[in-house]
Amino acid sequence: MIEIGILGAASIAKNRFLPALEHVPNVRCRHLAVREESERSLAMAKEFGLHVTTGYESLIDNPEVDALYLPLPPALHFEAAMAALEAGKHVFLEKPLTLNGEEARILLKRAQKKNLVVHENYMFLYHRQWTKLQQVWQDLAPGPLRLIRSSFCFPKRGPNDFRYQKDLGGGALLDAGGYVARAALDLLEDPKVLSAESFVDPQYGVDTYGTFTLSGTKGELFQGFYGMDNAYQCTLELHGARALLTTDRIYTSPPEHEARAVSSSPKGQEEVSLGADNAFAQSLAHFCTLMDAPALRLKHHQTLLRQQALLDELRAASKGNKPCRK
Ligand SMILES: NC(=O)c1ccc[n+]([C@@H]2O[C@H](COP(=O)([O-])OP(=O)(O)OC[C@H]3O[C@@H](n4cnc5c(N)ncnc54)[C@H](OP(=O)(O)O)[C@@H]3O)[C@@H](O)[C@H]2O)c1
Repeated sequence: MIEIGILGAASIAKNRFLPALEHVPNVRCRHLAVREESERSLAMAKEFGLHVTTGYESLIDNPEVDALYLPLPPALHFEAAMAALEAGKHVFLEKPLTLNGEEARILLKRAQKKNLVVHENYMFLYHRQWTKLQQVWQDLAPGPLRLIRSSFCFPKRGPNDFRYQKDLGGGALLDAGGYVARAALDLLEDPKVLSAESFVDPQYGVDTYGTFTLSGTKGELFQGFYGMDNAYQCTLELHGARALLTTDRIYTSPPEHEARAVSSSPKGQEEVSLGADNAFAQSLAHFCTLMDAPALRLKHHQTLLRQQALLDELRAASKGNKPCRK
């Protein structure tokens, strides 16, 4: 039984992490550490039977705990994850892994040295629709893949949300663009950045939307769009020479949602079920698998490093941000 503790009474911990635990038989959570006790942390503790302590160090240093879940604002990820590794704990880290590639390099090097896992929770990769979609695509005999388009955007959240605060690691590239970049990394071999643009809201001083184009080694293109002050979109489209496949809930499909895709090919148009899944539970189960699989763990850490480097490349290619259109 793996004992995992939580740092921070985050919404995602309450809404997704804790409910997912009942679907992962070898993991349990009995401890929550918070900066200060609050109504939210007390309610969470009551609902899930957690023991709450004040100060994150109280849990980082707790010898009963094997792993830590870190659903913190991005600017705190590196320091908290390093402290967890130093204390000998595996780290289940919310996305984005770190603020930049340099932090990721130091963190993952430390994890390798200590034989510990760092996992970034891009849970969509573990939802069954992700592999099913790729099977459906191959079955369509689509011919050469020419273009992938993907977007992940959501409407503006409250002004106090960390996503709009620069010093907490806010910004749409890290919060929403990371999903789209991670999808590109999984679907294309060695993607290269052709162009990128990001747009800043002067009220917050962070990028609120952006777009990029990548190319794969076989000449395929990937066009990404992301934003956190937009109409909701969560799409992936695969365009081949002879077929098209589209989905509309690729990154955030909740456990009760049956994911679907629509294909167009010479056979006509067809709607296909991609199934329902608890992607959070699958991501947690993968985290546990990595604990006892050093070769897989190394490969996993290398992919995380590449993901963070790709975000750095996108930021650099934006060549300074443009003001957003309001
Ligand atoms: N994988 C996914 O699908 C997914 C979805 C949503 C969010 N996320 C990620 O999960 C993380 C948390 O997101 P969330 O929306 O759940 O955030 P949230 O509700 O705002 O919670 C963030 C937590 O961070 C702690 N914190 C520590 N220092 C803080 C500071 N200076 N300001 C604000 N909070 C601070 C707080 O815990 P205490 O005060 O209780 O200690 C707070 O509860 C982020 O990295 C986000 O990108 C992932």
